[in-house]
Amino acid sequence: MKPTRRPANPCFSSGPCAKRPGWSPAVLSGALLGRSHRSAPGTARLVEVIERSRTLLQMPADYRLGIVAGSDTGAVELALWSLLGARGVDLLSWENFGEGWVEDVTRQLKPVDYRLLQAPYGKLPDLEAVDPERDTVFVWNGTTSGVRVPNGDWIATDRRGLTICDATSAAFAMRLPWDKLDVVTWSWQKALGGEAAHGMLALSPRAVERLESYTPPWPLPKLFRLTSKGKLIEGVFQGETINTPSMLCVEDAIDSLKWAESVGGLNGLVARAEGNLAAVAAWEEGSSWARFLAEVPATRSCTSIQLAIVDPWFTALSPEARFQTVRAMTARLEAEGVGYDLASHRASPPGIRIWAGATVEQSDVAALLPWLDWAWEQQMDAAKAA
Ligand SMILES: Cc1ncc(COP(=O)(O)O)c(C=O)c1O
Repeated sequence: MKPTRRPANPCFSSGPCAKRPGWSPAVLSGALLGRSHRSAPGTARLVEVIERSRTLLQMPADYRLGIVAGSDTGAVELALWSLLGARGVDLLSWENFGEGWVEDVTRQLKPVDYRLLQAPYGKLPDLEAVDPERDTVFVWNGTTSGVRVPNGDWIATDRRGLTICDATSAAFAMRLPWDKLDVVTWSWQKALGGEAAHGMLALSPRAVERLESYTPPWPLPKLFRLTSKGKLIEGVFQGETINTPSMLCVEDAIDSLKWAESVGGLNGLVARAEGNLAAVAAWEEGSSWARFLAEVPATRSCTSIQLAIVDPWFTALSPEARFQTVRAMTARLEAEGVGYDLASHRASPPGIRIWAGATVEQSDVAALLPWLDWAWEQQMDAAKAA
């Protein structure tokens, strides 16, 4: 049966993610356009992004938070290039983005003493194998598999290595244990539905100590340089960005942060994302064809929810035919205007991925789910007819 109810907002992309409920371009009307970001009001806007983010995320007062170029990718690479090499590093990966950081460290930052702790899509590597004497690089939430670390219990409080955590699809939807994290990064385009191109970099006092006491053996481009004459450039963490940011994006980021405050801050954001996950979980329990790709319930993402298609007809198809089937399903959903960008990432097993972070309304998730069944049935009918 074709459902009658449609999501009010059909945007379920895992990045750029849905704008916050009620957003319109009018929220940008006060943007400081045509002015220098280094003017007093320009710097004030940048500081506002930093301070509102810090408060919302309940970041310790002695952590630095700065705005950097290149979105989350820029922030992670800045950290890897600036910090790694002082100790060995454990690289955790279980999906495409963690894999990207492995690639950087093992192929670009040679020679670094590294260990790989990897797992296939749907699983986590053995977190207990992480060595607290070594640095650790990991994503908090694997955006392309829908598998997140359940908590930070596996990270030693008295570790000597630094933990570098790519939290771009976790921040503002999941609680981050700051005492376990030395470097945390995220991008504006993700969980608060901001605009792309800008990244955030949080540093613990121990990460700053490393920056001030260690010089990596490779060159650092200007965009990555956080120290001058062996001292941290504090201005970067006080709104003095290394290069020019878009003041339009800054205005949008401030709007998204104010919205986040209005829904109850971090508690409200986490509750909204977890509520969305619960709605999908209730549907998945009764589904004959879809299962969470995340095998262990505690590791199921509440932002990038990834569903595997387990129907025997589908699993018997070739990888290419599975990919094409999913594309055909998502094309039907797009043609109906009920759900955009729902195909899994090209690197992950063909399936459905629903972004369910806090900017997505639970009523929209609930309205989407019968449409997934409809698209699947349409696809089965088409296969039988062929
Ligand atoms: C875990 C993770 N890391 C890094 C990225 C790259 O982020 P950006 O494109 O904002 O640099 C993404 C984007 O989806 C991601 O999900």
